Amino acid sequence: MANPQTVKTYNVAIVGTGAIAASNHVPALRAAGDRVKLVAAMDVDATRAQEFAAKFEIPQWFTDVNALLETAKPDLVVICTPPATHVDLSIACLEAGAHVLCEKPLARSIADFDRLIEAEKRSGKTVSTVFQWRFGSAAQHYKKLIDSGEYGKPLVGHCLTLWYRDFDYYAVPWRGKWATELGGPTMGHGIHLTDLFLWLYGDWDEVRAMMGTLDRPIEVEDVSMALVRFSSGAMGSITNSVLSPRQETYLRLDLQKLTIELSALYSANNDHWRVNVPNVPQPETNITGGHTAQVVALLDSLDRGETPLVTGNEARRIIEFSSSLYKSAITGTPVQRGSIAAPDPFYYAMNGQPVETGRG
Ligand SMILES: NC(=O)c1ccc[n+]([C@@H]2O[C@H](COP(=O)([O-])OP(=O)(O)OC[C@H]3O[C@@H](n4cnc5c(N)ncnc54)[C@H](O)[C@@H]3O)[C@@H](O)[C@H]2O)c1
Repeated sequence: MANPQTVKTYNVAIVGTGAIAASNHVPALRAAGDRVKLVAAMDVDATRAQEFAAKFEIPQWFTDVNALLETAKPDLVVICTPPATHVDLSIACLEAGAHVLCEKPLARSIADFDRLIEAEKRSGKTVSTVFQWRFGSAAQHYKKLIDSGEYGKPLVGHCLTLWYRDFDYYAVPWRGKWATELGGPTMGHGIHLTDLFLWLYGDWDEVRAMMGTLDRPIEVEDVSMALVRFSSGAMGSITNSVLSPRQETYLRLDLQKLTIELSALYSANNDHWRVNVPNVPQPETNITGGHTAQVVALLDSLDRGETPLVTGNEARRIIEFSSSLYKSAITGTPVQRGSIAAPDPFYYAMNGQPVETGRG
């Protein structure tokens, strides 16, 4: 937590006033108290924007992002729109002098991500991605424990996102399509635990994957499975499913002298983690890995003039991993980290196909 004397107040705007904005972002911003002033909301759907602003007592609403940026001049914009719109909206906010907190998945491709990095450099502002699982006290604690080497090096990992999404879920027009959702559970649902796994185990070198569309009427995959080799030599398996009636989010990390497990569903606190060895140091606080924890960490970073945690290379790791998983599954070949670059079609799109709808 920041020193009270250095705490600032940020004018914050929300772009995209749908489900996640209302259920998670407004409560997280409200929980920040005087550190945040919610000044404006924007949605391409005027009714949604207006109703959202009225419901949450936000003084201004817009249907155009540039109008919002020019009029409300926010310090921070929280982007909660469908995936394919994230990079262009983020760049518009950066260029107007605002920091960005953007929902996942941040970019539609590595190429898109590279455009964003250029805009960050030009503007001096940052874009961080919502990966709220990293910000729980247990995740932060075990990251330090693993990095300390006290229990030996990481050897084996299992990362399972076994969720269930019914047919109605895919009735929302942007879901289930490469052009707008950018992928299936690899890019959407499982991206949280995969990001957590890759953050905890460090850089990865190679991925081999399969995927399928087994039971939902969608273009993208409804299940993917991948094997990953880390730079440390550790090996892992990753499953991303929206077809699993008994849902679970399960991570198992086998170090040389310790097994760490996480079993949860959509969020986790310390109680969802366990270790197999008595007297292993435990987290000092019990903070849920949720939007509130990430917003607090972001504001702390901005107060201190530091780069927030999930930006730049920390954000790139998962985008490059997702691209490589899809390339491996689609081409049937192993993919080495760093091998996807222009003019590889997988540099420009997760499925290696020409982008159909322009740049979001
Ligand atoms: N971090 C998490 O745990 C989590 C959970 C759910 C969803 N999400 C992510 O949040 C994002 C939004 O998901 P949702 O479920 O709230 O979707 P939603 O469809 O409920 O809401 C999206 C809103 O964005 C608006 N919109 C679309 N294009 C826009 C544009 N160009 N500018 C402004 N507004 C625009 C839509 O009109 C809609 O109101 C997605 O990227 C999704 O993956 C994250």
